[in-house]
Amino acid sequence: MNQLLLALLIFLFLMLLVFASVALNERRKRVKLLKKLKKKSQEGKQPPIDRSKLLARALSLIKEGIVVMDPYGRVIFTNRFARELLGIDEKDIGKFFYQAIKDFDVVSMINEAFNESYRVWQEKKIKDSYVQVIFGSDMDEKVLLLIDQTPMKKYETLKKDFIANASHELKTPLAAMKISLETLEETCKENTKALKYISKAQERVNYMEQLIEDLITLSLLESTNLTLKLEKVKILPLIKEILNNVSELLSQKRIQLSIKIPEDAEVCADEKLLHAILKNLIENAIKYNREGGKIEISFKQLKNEDEIKVCDTGYGIPKSHLPFIFERFYRVERSRSRKSGGTGLGLSIVKLATEKLGGKVEVESQEGRGSCFSIYLPKRCDIITTDL
Ligand SMILES: Nc1ncnc2c1ncn2[C@@H]1O[C@H](COP(=O)(O)OP(=O)(O)OP(=O)(O)O)[C@@H](O)[C@H]1O
Ligand SMILES: [Mg+2]
Repeated sequence: MNQLLLALLIFLFLMLLVFASVALNERRKRVKLLKKLKKKSQEGKQPPIDRSKLLARALSLIKEGIVVMDPYGRVIFTNRFARELLGIDEKDIGKFFYQAIKDFDVVSMINEAFNESYRVWQEKKIKDSYVQVIFGSDMDEKVLLLIDQTPMKKYETLKKDFIANASHELKTPLAAMKISLETLEETCKENTKALKYISKAQERVNYMEQLIEDLITLSLLESTNLTLKLEKVKILPLIKEILNNVSELLSQKRIQLSIKIPEDAEVCADEKLLHAILKNLIENAIKYNREGGKIEISFKQLKNEDEIKVCDTGYGIPKSHLPFIFERFYRVERSRSRKSGGTGLGLSIVKLATEKLGGKVEVESQEGRGSCFSIYLPKRCDIITTDL
């Protein structure tokens, strides 16, 4: 019996040993696994990310310039493009913008807009780049943005050169066609059917000739090397000459003229440009006028500007069209304009030429009642800048 009890005790003891060793083993395994995981997570840990450094590096890659200033105008951040363009040295950070920025014009621009919340300057040439300058100050910091427009400018120059060259090239064959049609007209004097077609062809050739002339004028006005001859120009003789050239149309439409311009009235302008402006406005006032309508051309001296006004009692321009009439090829009523030989370039020439003279053009119109186009030119010839 004793022996049986002893054997049972030994068995229990052995079982205890087995359980203890299994539990010990499991614990050892768990500790080992934890150590392994801890080691792995330590291996994967990166040093903390410096986000501002990362952002600065990314901003240095873009081709837009950024200058951030504190509310007092001290430079706190610049990117590479802005530093290169404005001659800012890395050491200049912390200095006032007028000490850090080496481009005098940009410093004056910031000075001018410093207390404004937002200002945009279109196209400024800095070194070899054309940039749009934006100054924003509607938060605590002030931000100067330089948006590179050089590729766009190059594309525009190419386009303008192409139009100018193509227009000049088209002039010669068109002149030859015109002469041929005149000869043909002489030859077919007796053939009424042929004459009808010749007249149609002549109409289209004349339209093309006008279109080419307008395109050449526009590209001349857009070219940067256009030299203006600014002088005091007497207005009345110029208007009389234009009216003389359109006298046939005036009498055809039985239009009454009222000219309120003193004999000695003069404005500061380039005579050729002023001629182009007035010719377009007067032609429009006749073309878009009704039979028996009126045209009034007046002159007024204002404080800093001189005003020339051309008013008509024609069809007028609907309000919804007014913002677009100075755009190229824009015609309110295509059929009416085409019938009168219009190319849709007249008013864009008027706008560009007036701006070249340092002035502006305004329009007031009432559908069905008539329109008034006003040209404002600065009185002083010496303040006109031509680098548009
Ligand atoms: N005085 C006006 N009265 C009514 N509509 C006008 C007047 N002037 C211009 N417009 C409208 O504005 C459009 C643009 O005028 P714009 O002078 O640029 O072109 P156009 O007269 O058609 O052609 P172009 O002057 O080149 O021969 C015209 O087609 C016409 O619809
Ligand atoms: Mg016109």
